[in-house]
Amino acid sequence: MIKIAVCGANGKMGQEVVKAVNEAHDMTLAAKIDIKDGEFATIMDAKNSVEIDVLIDFTQPKSIYENALYCLNNNINIVIGTTGLTDEQIDELKKLSEAAKTGCLIAPNFSTGAVLMMKFAQMASKYFKNAEIIELHHNQKKDAPSGTAVKTALMMSKENSDFTSGNCQEVETIEGARGGNSYNNIHIHSVRMPGYIASQEVIFGSSGQILTIRHDSMNRECYMDGVLRAVRHTYKNKDFVYGLENIL
Ligand SMILES: NC(=O)c1ccc[n+]([C@@H]2O[C@H](COP(=O)([O-])OP(=O)(O)OC[C@H]3O[C@@H](n4cnc5c(N)ncnc54)[C@H](O)[C@@H]3O)[C@@H](O)[C@H]2O)c1
Repeated sequence: MIKIAVCGANGKMGQEVVKAVNEAHDMTLAAKIDIKDGEFATIMDAKNSVEIDVLIDFTQPKSIYENALYCLNNNINIVIGTTGLTDEQIDELKKLSEAAKTGCLIAPNFSTGAVLMMKFAQMASKYFKNAEIIELHHNQKKDAPSGTAVKTALMMSKENSDFTSGNCQEVETIEGARGGNSYNNIHIHSVRMPGYIASQEVIFGSSGQILTIRHDSMNRECYMDGVLRAVRHTYKNKDFVYGLENIL
């Protein structure tokens, strides 16, 4: 049985993960960690009391780097769902994970449909010189743009060096109107609205045609298959992985 600690166990994602771990035939829940009313308040408290094979983190952008450093420095394999890590932090975690031979799997999106949406967007990027991303989330989401949008843009940028080919000289009369400018000029627009969970559209255009690739998460159960796969992979391989698509 793989001994699991869930960090952020009382949050929206954490509660769903606790349920999924309890239902998994090959896992046992060793600790529920949360700064707010958790069985343990910190990872250190949990580690001092119970054995942990894999920690699953769904906390918040401002805590995730410190949590990951603690795990990798203390031989705890970690599966990271929390978004908001910078490229530099991800590089540092990769180095640390490889040096410590401790597993670290980071996935900005654990839903298989969303991972396919990202792959399809990458494929389409070979054939279009213009593309923009619109991501739509619930209004309690703390970071913008979403980790999924950033990862999608990164994957698309590997296929195309400039995504605003042929645009005229632009002037923003309201700052931010054109969204954030990410890798290779892919513009990302973030919508925050009660009612959404997580949705994303990638829009491609060329003369006379528009291609839209869209994914909608209807509830948080859609992430759980990916989370459990990530745990099994990390426990077995103890390697560094960025993106669920690399283990499917
Ligand atoms: N990768 C994915 O597929 C995916 C899917 C959905 C959400 N997310 C991300 O997961 C994160 C959590 O989302 P949520 O909607 O569950 O948020 P939430 O606010 O509902 O839950 C976060 C929980 O973490 C706890 N927490 C915060 N800092 C902590 C710390 N340092 N130690 C222990 N507990 C801590 C909070 O008390 C809270 O209970 C966000 O970054 C979100 O973007 C990722």
